[in-house]
Amino acid sequence: MKNMLSHWDKVYKNKDHNQVSWHQSHSTISFKWILKYTQKTDSIIDIGSGISILADNLLDEGYTHLSLLELSPTAIQTTKDRLKVHTSKVNFYNENILNFQSDTQFYLWHDRAVFHFLTDEKDQQTYINKLNQYLKPQGYFLLATFATTGPKQCSELDIVQYDKDKITQLLGDDFTLIQTTSETHPHPNGSTQDFNYFLLQKQ
Ligand SMILES: C[S@@+](CC[C@H](N)C(=O)[O-])C[C@H]1O[C@@H](n2cnc3c(N)ncnc32)[C@H](O)[C@@H]1O
Repeated sequence: MKNMLSHWDKVYKNKDHNQVSWHQSHSTISFKWILKYTQKTDSIIDIGSGISILADNLLDEGYTHLSLLELSPTAIQTTKDRLKVHTSKVNFYNENILNFQSDTQFYLWHDRAVFHFLTDEKDQQTYINKLNQYLKPQGYFLLATFATTGPKQCSELDIVQYDKDKITQLLGDDFTLIQTTSETHPHPNGSTQDFNYFLLQKQ
């Protein structure tokens, strides 16, 4: 099995950050839904935040309690440097979500293109256990994955494609689906990738 930390860290060390396939110059659906469903003081965690612009967009809107969790030291350092004027509003966790431990719970748990890399059922269950443990009651899980019409791989790794039925079945009765939509994401190389977005609320 590949060493995931070294795989992802190499990606961020060797690739132009504007050319990674998941690059966005402004967050789209995640940003819109977070604004719609949360208050600016709510605690929000972005799992596998990479070098995403989502935190910048939320800080610009006045959000004050953000947490970013990311496996790659290079990606987290790049984001720390970029957000250094906002250090009091952002917590950084450089770790694997499967080993995450925290004293706090979050009101919104965001994951864009991270959960879908968990192809092993045991890892999926560990992730879901963490989600259940660290998401507040009535809190939101905002998940973006490749759609069933999208790619089967990303960054040379296999992924699991999700649709509404598959994700609700996997999460079970603990979560209610509030909203779902699809997005055609423009890859910097000119092609496109089909994503599905799901907003689920914890019971
Ligand atoms: C396709 S990128 C998406 C990055 C970001 N969410 C975005 O939308 O721009 C996947 C990210 O998840 C991170 N990642 C992968 N597996 C992880 C894990 N088990 N724990 C934490 N981060 C992980 C990778 O390092 C990478 O930054």
